[in-house]
Amino acid sequence: PGPADYQAEDAAISQGAVESNHAGFTGAGFVNYDNLAGSYVEFTVNAAKAGPATLTLRYANGTTSGRPMDITVNGTLAAGELAFDPTGAWTTWTTRTVTVQLNAGANTIRAAAATAGGGPNLDRISLG
Ligand code: GCU
Repeated sequence: PGPADYQAEDAAISQGAVESNHAGFTGAGFVNYDNLAGSYVEFTVNAAKAGPATLTLRYANGTTSGRPMDITVNGTLAAGELAFDPTGAWTTWTTRTVTVQLNAGANTIRAAAATAGGGPNLDRISLG
C-alpha cells in the first residue's frame, strides 16, 4: 500500500478549530491552530513494523512569518521547531517532510506550535 493519510480534522485538537474556508485542502477541512505557542494536533497512527518512517505534513501559511512546530512522537521530541515557512496564500498548500522513528502498532504524533503565532493551517499528515 501507499502512504497512509491521516486528516487533521479527525485528530485530537488542543487549541485549534476545524475550518474549510480556504480551498485546496483534502478531506473535510483543515485545522486552524490558535495563535499561541503550545496549540497542537495529535494523531494516532498505526505502523506495521518498528523503525524509521517518512512523515509528511501538508500545510498552508498565508502569513509572511514562519510558523515552526515541535514534532513529538510517542512523547519524545522528534523535530524541534521544524520550519513551516510562508506559502504565499492560505489557499496555497505544500508539504514538509521529516523522518521519524515509529513503534510497531499504535503511535502518537503531535505537531505543536512552537511560537506565539501558532501553527500553520494543517491539512493532513501522511506516513510512508
Ligand atoms: C487567518 C486565516 C486563518 C489562519 C489565521 C492565522 O485568520 O483566515 O485560516 O489560521 O489567519 O493567522 O493563523
